[in-house]
Amino acid sequence: MHLTILAASGRTGSALTRQALDRGHTVTAIARDISRIALDHPNLWKVAGDVSGPLTIDPDSVVLSGLGADTPGVLLAGAQAVVAAGPSRIIWLGAYGTGASAEAAGEGAAVLWKFFGDRIPDKVAADYAVLTAGGTVFHAGVLTDEPAGPGRVVGLDEAPPFDLGAKISRETVAAAMLDEAEHPRFPGAVALPLAG
Ligand SMILES: NC(=O)c1ccc[n+]([C@@H]2O[C@H](COP(=O)([O-])OP(=O)(O)OC[C@H]3O[C@@H](n4cnc5c(N)ncnc54)[C@H](OP(=O)(O)O)[C@@H]3O)[C@@H](O)[C@H]2O)c1
Repeated sequence: MHLTILAASGRTGSALTRQALDRGHTVTAIARDISRIALDHPNLWKVAGDVSGPLTIDPDSVVLSGLGADTPGVLLAGAQAVVAAGPSRIIWLGAYGTGASAEAAGEGAAVLWKFFGDRIPDKVAADYAVLTAGGTVFHAGVLTDEPAGPGRVVGLDEAPPFDLGAKISRETVAAAMLDEAEHPRFPGAVALPLAG
């Protein structure tokens, strides 16, 4: 399968890129600064791209995103650029307790508004653009840099209450996103990667 990884220089983006290559996929890795993609592989092509400008995305690829930013508007710009390219599928990383998962997450997710309130509308708008295009949005809880561990993926109907202590590693989330690219279970829907 040919995959495009958006924000391949980031922590989740680099886990996605390395695991995709390990699984035998060919990968176009997009980053603002390709020197920050610390991987070399015969099946890896590095392409410079900032979501605030034109992005080159192969419409025959499946796009996986690890895009993240402190500046409101970046996520929506990225989602719109990916959707406009018309790839075969989009697998997007979002945050549990925002937008479509806010109700399932319950009152515990209010802490997100305290710390990231100014960025949540951007997350919700980006998610909506991806979901409307039939993509899958992974709503992860607090991320860590631990190695990959056991994980499972559930839909919103099985979502547990938001818990700041229920952490999951970026490696485990990346594996779940790649599983979804290979075997779609949640097209046009939010999926929750859970540890354990
Ligand atoms: N942290 C958590 O606990 C948590 C929990 C749930 C969900 N999330 C979400 O998970 C996502 C990824 O998190 P992460 O920790 O892996 O992120 P990260 O390590 O901070 O990486 C962010 C990536 O986005 C790229 N980026 C930023 N602005 C860009 C732009 N204008 N154009 C192109 N690329 C741009 C960065 O590029 P540079 O390398 O050039 O900076 C970097 O590759 C985020 O959306 C975050 O909100 C995080």
